[in-house]
Amino acid sequence: MNILLIGSGGREHALAKKLSETPETKIFAAPGNPGIFQYAFHSAVQITHPDEIVEFCKASDIKLVVIGPEAPLAAGLADDLRAHGIATFGPSRAAARLESSKAFAKDFMLRHGIPTAQYRVFNEHQHQEARNYVASHPLPIVIKADGLAAGKGVSIAETHRYALEALDAVFDGKFGLAGKSVVIEEFMQGEEASVFAVCDGERFVTLAAAQDHKRIGDGDTGENTGGMGAYCPAPIVTPAILREVEEHIIEATLRGMKSEGHPFIGCLYVGLMIEPSGKARVVEFNARFGDPETQAVLAVFDGDFVQLLHSAAMGNVDTGAVRNATNGTACCVVLAAGGYPGEVRKGDEITGIDDAETASNDEVSIFHAGTALHQKPDGTTHLCTNGGRVLGVTSRGTNLQEAIKKCYEAIKLVHFRGKTYRTDIGAKGVR
Ligand code: AMP
Ligand code: GLY
Repeated sequence: MNILLIGSGGREHALAKKLSETPETKIFAAPGNPGIFQYAFHSAVQITHPDEIVEFCKASDIKLVVIGPEAPLAAGLADDLRAHGIATFGPSRAAARLESSKAFAKDFMLRHGIPTAQYRVFNEHQHQEARNYVASHPLPIVIKADGLAAGKGVSIAETHRYALEALDAVFDGKFGLAGKSVVIEEFMQGEEASVFAVCDGERFVTLAAAQDHKRIGDGDTGENTGGMGAYCPAPIVTPAILREVEEHIIEATLRGMKSEGHPFIGCLYVGLMIEPSGKARVVEFNARFGDPETQAVLAVFDGDFVQLLHSAAMGNVDTGAVRNATNGTACCVVLAAGGYPGEVRKGDEITGIDDAETASNDEVSIFHAGTALHQKPDGTTHLCTNGGRVLGVTSRGTNLQEAIKKCYEAIKLVHFRGKTYRTDIGAKGVR
């Protein structure tokens, strides 16, 4: 089957690898990255030009398009492809609002009785009302820009002064159009986890529950990032909690979206807060696979991934395509460029990837995120850093300790200037 994969991050490298394991699969990727091109042919289509993509799909006999990132989903790429009869794994623009509008997601959860934090939504014309609400709200309080802000639109305020500053920043345009509305919500205590459901609009299959590490520093300190590492399965999501999440969150969401005329086809990412009592509430929905969780989740996935995504895209998810969603344990440690999540240098040479993979007997996969090939004056090419999150070093083990150990051994062999990573990825799962 010919597949077009949209995206260029570590998540897409992991998706490409897993899709390529199904026999007779030919993958094209746009825009792709040097790691993805180990498994895929380059497609020159611009992902912001749906007409080009449709044309490419017809010319190349593409039977499935898999959309990785949120921006093309929010722009309606899946609608454009489906309108031309092209099977697409990824929600419509309307269904992707579960991610692209936090206000929509919160109101939706309220309408359908899905457990989440108490909240209020204010638009830019209600700035003063929002300030009054913040000033009288107990602390901590959470301030969120409504729209897509690459994980940076959320502030957790311990003081009213900081909360008001965060609110003013949103309405003063810090996040552009994403800040036309703001969600102000109750702070939830607990531990976070991510559950991915592969959905066909009505039914779903869940993959291994994972835990991301969003802060830059060890011990969950410092600034928020796109994610510094992940492991799975996350023991915090017990079988009882998973059943609860499936029934009261995922099923309820699919039923609600269908009843509102926007069935959700794609990966529903459920970001959970598991409270000390064991109750799970939704922190956020995303309308796609998570990054870097996917790198770990797919490392333990045993089954026919092409059949799983294609059957979901066709509206009839094949549960038989999953032999075992949790075949072992996996850990992914992100290597970032110096300065991340702030400004980073680009163009530093990366060495040691092949050595690290070989030394591990291929039990470690190193996924490319922010990398590029540069040509030296003598004509040879070399791999360079080209973004904040550079690589995702991912290992599988029979238990979490083993997976973690393999990751950190591999990391010692990979070099680039400014290499930055957390040394405690997975430690929570071991405790
Ligand atoms: P979001 O983009 O909505 O996932 O928020 C980013 C991060 O902020 C989450 O992963 C949580 O760590 C934190 N967060 C968001 N909302 C809440 C909340 N209501 N209570 C506690 N932490 C939150
Ligand atoms: N790992 C968080 C995200 O993908 O949004």
